Amino acid sequence: MGNGQWAMGNWQLAIGNRQSRVLKILITEANCPLPIAYCLLGIVNYLWQMLKISDRGQQMPPSPIRKLVPYAEAAKKKGIKVFHLNIGQPDIETPQAIMDAVKHTDMKVLEYSHSAGNESYRRKLVQYYKKVGIDINYDQIIITTGGSEAIMFGFFTCLNPGDEVIIPEPFYANYNGFACAAGVKVVPITSTIETGFALPPIADFEKVITPKTKAIIICSPNNPTGYLYSRKEMEALKDICISHNLYLFSDEAYREFCYPTDDGDDDGEYVSAMHLPGLEQHVVLMDTISKRYSACGARIGALVTRNKGVYDAAMKFAQARLSPPGLAQILGEAAVDLPDSYFDEPKAEYMARRDLVVKRLNDIPGVYCPNPGGAFYAMARLPIDDADKFCQWLLESFSYNSQTVMLAPATGFYGTPGLGKNEVRLAYVLNLEALGSAMTCLEKALEEYPGRTRDTVKERQGSVQG
Ligand SMILES: Cc1ncc(COP(=O)(O)O)c(C=O)c1O
Repeated sequence: MGNGQWAMGNWQLAIGNRQSRVLKILITEANCPLPIAYCLLGIVNYLWQMLKISDRGQQMPPSPIRKLVPYAEAAKKKGIKVFHLNIGQPDIETPQAIMDAVKHTDMKVLEYSHSAGNESYRRKLVQYYKKVGIDINYDQIIITTGGSEAIMFGFFTCLNPGDEVIIPEPFYANYNGFACAAGVKVVPITSTIETGFALPPIADFEKVITPKTKAIIICSPNNPTGYLYSRKEMEALKDICISHNLYLFSDEAYREFCYPTDDGDDDGEYVSAMHLPGLEQHVVLMDTISKRYSACGARIGALVTRNKGVYDAAMKFAQARLSPPGLAQILGEAAVDLPDSYFDEPKAEYMARRDLVVKRLNDIPGVYCPNPGGAFYAMARLPIDDADKFCQWLLESFSYNSQTVMLAPATGFYGTPGLGKNEVRLAYVLNLEALGSAMTCLEKALEEYPGRTRDTVKERQGSVQG
């Protein structure tokens, strides 16, 4: 018996067949000396034991909004105050009455609810939707864990892996994550800052529609641009969905916050996809109370559809995750009883903030910011080389009076690589005083930033006028 055969005999006893086969190949076929064969076997063993992350898990995009958080934390450790305009976390207080409803519940067992949500809550929501001009029944509503789960259910229910969904860009970045989870391809079509991020021409949609196109996603008023689609734009979307038999996923997270912009006849008018007659079977409404009542942590949203097939299939996903959050449904139900006047204050506050931010931005040389018609976001074009670098620099290398500002680089909101490099999104979720200081920081930062570029916007306007 040769050296190798002897060693293999003993090894086989100790480690079993699979590894001994590898050892045999290493010694007899690859002619490895024994010590090297054992080392290689150790490596092979290690690789075998390593648990693999799925392709989907590896491809899942990280949040572009949160990637600068470590830099913000480091700035704060240095004693710098950071104005957070990077994330849509409103500072408006959650109404006390809806918090109290949870506090005073006399529930003895916090049990699962119906998978579609408590019937009492869904029936209440019917009243809420009626007030915003949407006529639906309680059995056309599924309560979800935030608007996020409604989006996920919509994707899983209506789209197959390999299907395509068209989204006007820039768009809410997490649509990418949900598309990745569902194996769906996002096809962006570009809306531009020059038009204030209006709906791109319908011809642009026509150009990218293929047999795999199954849906269009819109968000109005929009995150990240704040743009509010007009009735005319909504009608155009209706026509294309009907002529190409597409779903219209309508994300209406910011419905309560629509403002006039002095732009046109139907200025400030909220038009829901659910308002469009003839589109009943196509529309999947993705909703949430997160922004409506400044209740992001409640994790309550809703998927609403008049399409029974979609509803029934979405219910199977709802059943698989058993039920939406129990306590938060009590909060959501109480919210429907808030007086209509509740929205007056937050809406007036957001409008005042928008006016301040847009004015201050447009007063800075080289900066351009269209006037958004809703939500609490504004997109601005800055005279900078690279928005990602600039936003990091603001946190890492800049301060004014021991203050700085955190913004979201717009690159993360575009699907087309290279777009948004000189744009940032600002969430006006701080009070007017803090916003004023944040704008001063930004103004000073743009004077100092080493990657500042020339004032292209004003130059272009100058050449058009002159
Ligand atoms: C456009 C849009 N849709 C959906 C969501 C998710 O909402 P939720 O917090 O209810 O999951 C957000 C959150 O910021 C959003 O901006």
